Amino acid sequence: MSDTKIDRTGKRLNETTLIRGGTVVTADNTVRADVLIAGEKVIAVAESLQAPVGARTIDAGGAYVMPGGIDPHVHMELPFMGTVSVDDFLSGTACAAAGGTTMIIDFAIPAPGQSLLETYAIWRERARKATTDYSFHMAITWWSPEVAEEMTILAREHGVNSFKHFMAYKNAIMVDDATLIESFTRARDVGAICMVHAENGDLVFRMQQEIVARGIVGPEGHPLSRPPEVEGEAANRACQIAGIVGVPLYIVHTSCRPAMEAIARAKLAGQRVFGESLVQHLVIDDSVYRDTDWRRAAHHVMSPPFRAPEHQTALWGGLQGGTIEVIGTDHCTFRTDQKAMGATDFRKIPNGTGGLEERMSVLWHHGVGSGRLTPSEFVAATSTNAARIFNVHPKKGTIAVGSDADIVVWDPDATRTLSARSHHSRNDFSIFEGMRVTGAAAITLSRGTVLWENGRLTPLEGHGCYVHRPCFGDTTRSQAIRNTFTMPTAVERQEFVP
Ligand code: URP
Ligand code: ZN
Ligand code: ZN
Repeated sequence: MSDTKIDRTGKRLNETTLIRGGTVVTADNTVRADVLIAGEKVIAVAESLQAPVGARTIDAGGAYVMPGGIDPHVHMELPFMGTVSVDDFLSGTACAAAGGTTMIIDFAIPAPGQSLLETYAIWRERARKATTDYSFHMAITWWSPEVAEEMTILAREHGVNSFKHFMAYKNAIMVDDATLIESFTRARDVGAICMVHAENGDLVFRMQQEIVARGIVGPEGHPLSRPPEVEGEAANRACQIAGIVGVPLYIVHTSCRPAMEAIARAKLAGQRVFGESLVQHLVIDDSVYRDTDWRRAAHHVMSPPFRAPEHQTALWGGLQGGTIEVIGTDHCTFRTDQKAMGATDFRKIPNGTGGLEERMSVLWHHGVGSGRLTPSEFVAATSTNAARIFNVHPKKGTIAVGSDADIVVWDPDATRTLSARSHHSRNDFSIFEGMRVTGAAAITLSRGTVLWENGRLTPLEGHGCYVHRPCFGDTTRSQAIRNTFTMPTAVERQEFVP
């Protein structure tokens, strides 16, 4: 009688795999070691392991064996700005696997007035087809006692420990300070982390009107309406509010020096504020908006916009110095026909770019290849730090006994030219078109199953699982973040003079 267990995608769950001869890189160290996987878990990491009878062997000689990437900022099939982003949970996670990423965290975004629990259920349904594992942040787009109650239910019963707030996109999903304060307070009380898209939406709205009134309606108007100060102001405001409330804060897609400085100040003040930047912002500057080809310029319309080179220098410094912990992508793709909705008015161009498939190679090439990052720092920025911040470490984000076998066998010498002709996204454009990079995923395993091997994708629809993320303070490993909640509030610290 066979004791083979089969999952819902037909995969044998008790297969044994030995990854032999590679150099295992985690955020902590780099060692020559073999990795033994039984079913979905790592069961041994040591030198010269013997393959059990019947085990599959992967030769990783000359390669790095690293935790699969975690991209905590993506938007699959997102209804946004009058259309829907084109990569869904299957094509998007296929891109992820092809690029060495084994977990994404998407944003469930309710329309103002919509129930959070209903939104969560919709996103769970959409994500059933994912090939890699996934989780959700929940956006807070409006406020009521019901929203507060549903935040608690999501955090306690559904593994949603992070709540996102858009400080931009006025008259759509933007929230004001009153909502930020209410939501930050509830998140603190349930043991969750807050996130913000930091741009002052009122200022953006005003500047957009002024720019259009001056007759500027092309994509070049987009960065003019969202200068770095607009981002710096919002980042600083979010940090200050989070500090007073006493809740940890994660600032997404930090693109410029003023926002970085706000994060650095908050860290110096002892706050748990985490910075995320996008790989796109590290390597692409604002000259793209001066492209005379409307299509190319429009495909770079995203918020915050691409910045002048001095901000890129600051971002690299922030990543190297610890102000920025995570490099994500904000993968949110729109085809040319969708971008064309804003053909005569940049305000109507759907905001977003792709990068999920390219993230690891581009960061390796420009980060490790240039000497700015060590391989361990690369692993921290692409995987481990996100796992720690969003409380799924050490299940995810490392290679250790008991961890999920989410692993990328990384060929540091593989060279390729990035192009929309060869990527797996449904988008008809790549903002990395023509970029030559060295360093690529040779093999990607998701919980022990090979999804990508030597240029061939074998995505298993529905292989991906929803990852519950417990609230902070529920486990000792997340105690450090929980400490923020027990800090005395600003009011408690004050000495009252009668
Ligand atoms: O332009 C962007 N970033 N689009 C996606 C939505 C968001 O703001 O993250
Ligand atoms: Zn955003
Ligand atoms: Zn986003």
